Amino acid sequence: MRLVELPNQIQRNVSEKLGFVPTMGALHAGHLSLIERAKSENDRVAVSIFVNPKQFGPREDFHRYPRPLEADLALCEKAGVDVVFHPSVETMYVNCPTSISVPELGDRYEGTFRPGHFDGVATVVLKLLNIVSPTTAYFGLKDLQQCSILAKMVQDLNVNVKLRFLETLREGDGLAMSSRNRFLSAEERTLAPIVFQELREFSTLMKNGGDSAKLLIKTQARIENSGFVVDYVDYIARTTFTPISELSIDGAIIFAGRIGTTRLIDNVLILV
Ligand code: PAJ
Repeated sequence: MRLVELPNQIQRNVSEKLGFVPTMGALHAGHLSLIERAKSENDRVAVSIFVNPKQFGPREDFHRYPRPLEADLALCEKAGVDVVFHPSVETMYVNCPTSISVPELGDRYEGTFRPGHFDGVATVVLKLLNIVSPTTAYFGLKDLQQCSILAKMVQDLNVNVKLRFLETLREGDGLAMSSRNRFLSAEERTLAPIVFQELREFSTLMKNGGDSAKLLIKTQARIENSGFVVDYVDYIARTTFTPISELSIDGAIIFAGRIGTTRLIDNVLILV
């Protein structure tokens, strides 16, 4: 496995299929599931590990975001990754005022609670795609709005890459795996799975003909009763991130909220 820190050190053999998994490190089984899929569908696999300052707000956890580089590299090695791209902040952003923005889609939900977040995500992902030039890049549906924004960016800017969005990996009790779960206290950890339980319950009742507005009120109340401060819970069309009320092949219930000092997000696609 090669560890590369500068963009011009990435060599791409154009005749091969290169899979790419962008990450911010602190790798867990969710990330590894993307790597595994990339391995199975490509000749070689590249992973980036870069905690991107541009996607964190001034009061967010950029400085406390975990950076266990040695452990991450060992996991990549074990997973059969060919190249790890681990640039410094200076390498990525020295003299770089250019920014990518996906208006509307990027302004709602996470965009409202984390102003500028998706500009940071879109900018870094476009830079990483240009540096690595993969055939296919892999992202997790756990970050559903991120997936929709990146799909729109790739379409609008004619980026020459295929995107694959893969299912959320969960703990046995349903909690979506996340690098931030390590910040949960023992008590918060026992409460956190309520989110997925309630989102799944909404999905079931919705498919059984339930009224989305009434179900949403119930879902939010139940999550709040177990100790969360809810930023939003809503039933939306995932290509536009606008609220809907009827069953749709595009439908998903999305959630963000805080328990203690940890902010979690999750969603369930309502497949009809
Ligand atoms: P990060 O949070 O490290 O996640 C890297 C990738 O892993 C993302 O595509 C994310 O959706 C996926 N992922 C996270 N948890 C997952 C889970 N439980 N199951 C499946 N996939 C999961 O998302 C980012 O980094 C950044 O915004 C990035 C795209 C790297 C740009 O900086």
